[in-house]
Amino acid sequence: MKGKILVTGGTGFIGSHTVVELQEAGFDVVIVDNLSNSSADVVDGIEKITGIRPTFAKIDCNDIDAMRDLFKKEGNISGIIHFAASKAVGESVQKPMLYYRNNLVSLLNIMDLMTEFNVKAFVFSSSCTVYGEPDVNPVVETSPVKPALSPYGNTKQIAEEIIRDGSVPGTCYKSIILRYFNPIGAHPSAEIGELPNGVPQNLLPFVTQTAMGIRKELSVFGDDYNTPDGSCIRDYINVIDLAKAHVKALDRMLEDKSEAPVEIFNLGTGTGVSVLELINTFTKVTGVEVPYKIVGRREGDIEKVWGGVDKANDVLGWKTEKTLEETLESAWKWQLKLRERGLM
Ligand code: WQD
Repeated sequence: MKGKILVTGGTGFIGSHTVVELQEAGFDVVIVDNLSNSSADVVDGIEKITGIRPTFAKIDCNDIDAMRDLFKKEGNISGIIHFAASKAVGESVQKPMLYYRNNLVSLLNIMDLMTEFNVKAFVFSSSCTVYGEPDVNPVVETSPVKPALSPYGNTKQIAEEIIRDGSVPGTCYKSIILRYFNPIGAHPSAEIGELPNGVPQNLLPFVTQTAMGIRKELSVFGDDYNTPDGSCIRDYINVIDLAKAHVKALDRMLEDKSEAPVEIFNLGTGTGVSVLELINTFTKVTGVEVPYKIVGRREGDIEKVWGGVDKANDVLGWKTEKTLEETLESAWKWQLKLRERGLM
């Protein structure tokens, strides 16, 4: 085994796909998740894919006593990937204190426990949200961090500052901050995928549920932006490509290849895709129409943002491999599997 990795939020969308890649890379994985936005069934899905059942503990990262007991029980944890956080932009505007408490107290607990138990490597799940509305695209890691447009985005900015300030000389661990663009898709086995609670906030789950007839039609939030077809542009990254970057980041730190106490990498394809392009590509690859209507802009939406990924390519040794077409196809296959199982 390459060592034991603790994955907080490991039954979530990105977390579960990352657990699969960690196991396939030879790591022993312990999942911690409070199941506030995911199901323990995901552990079964992971086992079906890899044949290895990860250890699972239903714990809230805000409960430091329970987390400390887990560290004592598990012993030699080499690294931690911290996904556990509340992540709905709109909800964060309605419940800011929940977001600041949940997202920041959990981080502070993890950082304290890494020192207490001499953990060597820390990967933090951040977001391109920290860039706000960029002046120039593609955004690179040195692009200015803009004032956050939501409490969710602000918790990511504050978290990054805490990690930077917490990495004082003598800290036992190195950190890598990964700034995701828009993660989409599902494992090709369709054993795991994105399973949002209630009405999806993000674009692709709403597209697949509309294609399935679960939603009557998709609202496209604005086509009057300064973009070629008027709809917003994002950098949609396949969730498996994204997961593989986490393995690369851990290896980099565990093999002592880090060049600084804290390193930051953008994780994207480097290409922008508009909302309407995504919808049309989905129909092209699946043959399924997606009824939609153009409505007003969604408050807080950024017009266009996509990633400059040379640093991840050249320094981390990682780049995306999957195309938008196969990614959309994987999301549709996942939606079909959910229907087959009677889950949606
Ligand atoms: C994408 C585009 C919408 C839904 C957020 C967070 C980011 C990450 C991903 C956590 C936008 C449009 C959407 C719909 C639409 N979250 N859209 N109709 O807002 O870019 O990013 O989620 O990790 O940190 O900021 O993603 O999928 O919500 O929106 O037209 O029903 O799709 O306007 O242009 P977003 P999204």
